Amino acid sequence: INGVHMLLDEAINKLEACKQKQLLRFYNELDPEKQNMLLSQIEATDFSVVRTDKDSGARGAITPIDVTGISEINLRRNEFMSVGLSEIRSGHVAAVLLAGGMGTRLGSDAPKGMYNVGITRDLYIFECLINNIKDVTKASGNSIHLFVMTSDRNNDATIGFFKEKNYFGYDPDYVHFFIQDMAPASDYNGKVYLEEKWKISTSPNGNGGWYSSMAKGGMLDIVKDNGIEWLNVFSVDNVLQRIADPVFVGATKLSGCSVGAKVIRKASPDERVGVICLEDGRPSIVEYYELTDEMREAKFPNGDPAYNFGVTLNYLFRVEELNAIIGKSLPLHIVEKKIPHIDEHGEHIEPDKPNGYKFETLILDMIHMLNGCLVFEVDRKHEFAPIKNRTGVDSVESARELLKLNGVIL
Ligand code: UTP
Repeated sequence: INGVHMLLDEAINKLEACKQKQLLRFYNELDPEKQNMLLSQIEATDFSVVRTDKDSGARGAITPIDVTGISEINLRRNEFMSVGLSEIRSGHVAAVLLAGGMGTRLGSDAPKGMYNVGITRDLYIFECLINNIKDVTKASGNSIHLFVMTSDRNNDATIGFFKEKNYFGYDPDYVHFFIQDMAPASDYNGKVYLEEKWKISTSPNGNGGWYSSMAKGGMLDIVKDNGIEWLNVFSVDNVLQRIADPVFVGATKLSGCSVGAKVIRKASPDERVGVICLEDGRPSIVEYYELTDEMREAKFPNGDPAYNFGVTLNYLFRVEELNAIIGKSLPLHIVEKKIPHIDEHGEHIEPDKPNGYKFETLILDMIHMLNGCLVFEVDRKHEFAPIKNRTGVDSVESARELLKLNGVIL
């Protein structure tokens, strides 16, 4: 008996225990190299995430949360700015770019950050973000460490692109890439798909695992060695967002909260953003697709909507607090999606409508685990231009208009 046979037995046991034996359907047809590839993937995959029960469980009592509004921020702007700049100059602030997503809605195979939003010149999404962070390195005179999360699917392309573009003038010593985990994708009955006869179908496991992936990728040594105390985590698609914004840093530090969240006033009750609130007295976010009519219609005595602020996926976390929750598991979200796969006859299938589930944890669920959240309002015209789609709402088109409005030459 050699190692491979042992591993095959083990794989059979593992798959029988989680009812996924279909993954070995084509095993006997494969050459030894591909057999080994499949076996090692079976070994490495956590099948316990797979489920078909979409009900994510009852929520606690939802009440409105205090928001620090723009006018209040403006009154204390200088004070916040000076505290924030001093944190940045002490090297206490770093940034984390979440770029592991598939960006399926944009419909490009390349990493989303490689999308060119320029019209008369090249201007890539990554470049917009680097330009935004450079505003702060210039103002503070200090370099800021930037951690970039990728996935197995886009890591090489992302790193290659940064190199090719000379990091858009950012100091490469301050850019660190790390790879997030993948999760298996299944059909509606919870059977994991094969992407190839020798390859399990997987997709990035959501943006909730960013901090544990940083730990796995050795990034926390850099955090520790450099005395980094705050991590400003942001999404790849909001080309207008301020990164390591000194006013936000100063306000969050002075608030004493574990985390700050940049929020916008919703454009309409149905805008597709997660709404910030309290749940059983702790900060929490309700995703737009979970919003109840009751929440949508709730009003304060003065007539203002009670749940009127959406998160922009720009959070400032205190590292100490992240370390305290690192082992805790986040709720799992089940997302329906189109999953290309090999059917039982060995044919490649490219579905044109959703045919199964992927399993994700979300960064927004981390907020509920932390003590206190500063809800920090920003002006959406100047800080919120997410690119999710090609056209329409939250699109390349709408972001271009907003970039122009803010004086960015396209
Ligand atoms: P989205 O929720 O927009 O998902 O991600 P997505 O996968 O990029 O896009 P669609 O839904 O397929 O069109 C919000 C942010 O979280 C990151 C994304 O890169 C984006 O910055 N993200 C998402 C990850 O880093 N990893 C993931 O597994 C998912």
